[in-house]
Amino acid sequence: MRVNPRALAQQLIDSGVLNDLSSDVSVAGPGFINVTLDNDYLSTALASEPLVTPTNAPLRIVVDYSSPNVAKQMHVGHLRSTVIGDSITRMLTLAGHSVVRQNHIGDWGTAFGKIVAYIEELGSDKEVGQSLDDLEQFYVAASKRFDEDKDFASTAREAVLKLQSNDPKTMAVWQKFIDASTRHMQEIYEKLDILLKPADIRGESSFNDDLPSVIDKLEDGGFLVESDGAQCVFVEGFVRKDGSQLPMIVQKSDGGYLYHTTDLATLLYRTNELNADQVLYFTDARQILHFQMLFAVAKKAGFAPPEVELEHHAFGSILNSHGEPLKTRAGENPLLADLIEQAEAHAKQVVREKSSHLEVFQQDEIAHKVAIGAIKYADLSKNRTSDYKFDLETMMSLEGNTSPYLQYAHARINAIFARGGIDSQGIELEEIRVRHPAEHDLSVRLLRFQEVLEQSIEERKAHHMCNFLYDLTVHFTRFYEKCQVLNAEKSERNSRLGLCARTAEALRVGLDCLGISVPTRM
Ligand code: ARG
Repeated sequence: MRVNPRALAQQLIDSGVLNDLSSDVSVAGPGFINVTLDNDYLSTALASEPLVTPTNAPLRIVVDYSSPNVAKQMHVGHLRSTVIGDSITRMLTLAGHSVVRQNHIGDWGTAFGKIVAYIEELGSDKEVGQSLDDLEQFYVAASKRFDEDKDFASTAREAVLKLQSNDPKTMAVWQKFIDASTRHMQEIYEKLDILLKPADIRGESSFNDDLPSVIDKLEDGGFLVESDGAQCVFVEGFVRKDGSQLPMIVQKSDGGYLYHTTDLATLLYRTNELNADQVLYFTDARQILHFQMLFAVAKKAGFAPPEVELEHHAFGSILNSHGEPLKTRAGENPLLADLIEQAEAHAKQVVREKSSHLEVFQQDEIAHKVAIGAIKYADLSKNRTSDYKFDLETMMSLEGNTSPYLQYAHARINAIFARGGIDSQGIELEEIRVRHPAEHDLSVRLLRFQEVLEQSIEERKAHHMCNFLYDLTVHFTRFYEKCQVLNAEKSERNSRLGLCARTAEALRVGLDCLGISVPTRM
């Protein structure tokens, strides 16, 4: 507006538009406006404003997450994609978008030749069934056979070809293995309280029949270039260190297809059949180049309409307490199931100590929620793109920016209600009267939920929600130290119970955005 910012700020204040919000507005610095929200405004807003107002422009958003390669059991490398992706889908849903979860499992490729050959060798259904109970051992055994026995190796290679041509007998054996691994996977999802269901699985294999048409489409568009017998697509801007063009290979010289090719077919399905407005992918940072090329080719060759947004969201690694990649003693990636078990054992110890007044079955239920919460929160509360340390001690501390601290605050509010014999559903929010500075500080935070949800969604980063919940809890604790609730006089008591109820709601819904559930008591 080409006016002095301080003068403009003063003009805005004088216009009175801020009068409803604030009794104390002043110009500061080069032209900032300091607004101290009015206690009456806060009281009315807390009585009438819902925690979340759903968007009036809902989008259809496909979220590709978890997506493990299922030849082996799920390990720690799948944790971040699973936890982060799930949290984003929860927040998108809460904000009113229509979310389609997709588990693009790696269920196709040469590894499955070994697996099929090994199942066939085992022969008896009973023996196969037993071996599949431990997928890790099973795959190690199959690989060993492959390395040691030439005949087995060639049977395994033939099996790959048979799979590619949909040979019914081979497919049936393969299916047996896929069923066993998805059962293992689903068990982990249930333990971790992840929303992915078997119906969300649409793995690489399900696009096998579409791959020739991907090549045809690229060919028809004039995008295919043959290089050393392989079919490639070149896109501007992708060059090697020596300056030469980096190709995206879509078909090898032996006719085999690649990860890229499957992803192109998958994109057609997501845009044409699932009608996506946006497609989000959550994988670790090693796949950044893959997705950059995929999106460039997809847009150029019409695999996704220009208006569809394609986004890859990468994340850092999980480190041990010394800052090295987390490994088992044998140098392997720790299994997710083992990690969960460790966390639960640790949580049980803590809960037995802190909640000795409860029955053992209650302690176990709490320990489960605390363990899962701690694992997820440690991951989600860091900026997604950084590495983080997996340290059970810190993750489960009842102090600091941790899940148990937030869960505990929620349980504490429940305990206040229980002690006062109060039905939390029956609390009249109209009675909220913000007066004390500690009430004021808490209220200002409570009214930020929507803004924080929107920011977390926009940046696809859950740590904003985590930081908000932590800050809220710190201010609730201060409020509870400074202000009597149950012993206050009647109207003040009712008002403060209202603030407790709104805090409990924000904690419960906020933690639910992270996939963390709250124990009723702790
Ligand atoms: N299966 C892959 C892996 O474990 C991740 C798949 C991600 N999704 C995709 N559409 N490429 O690395």
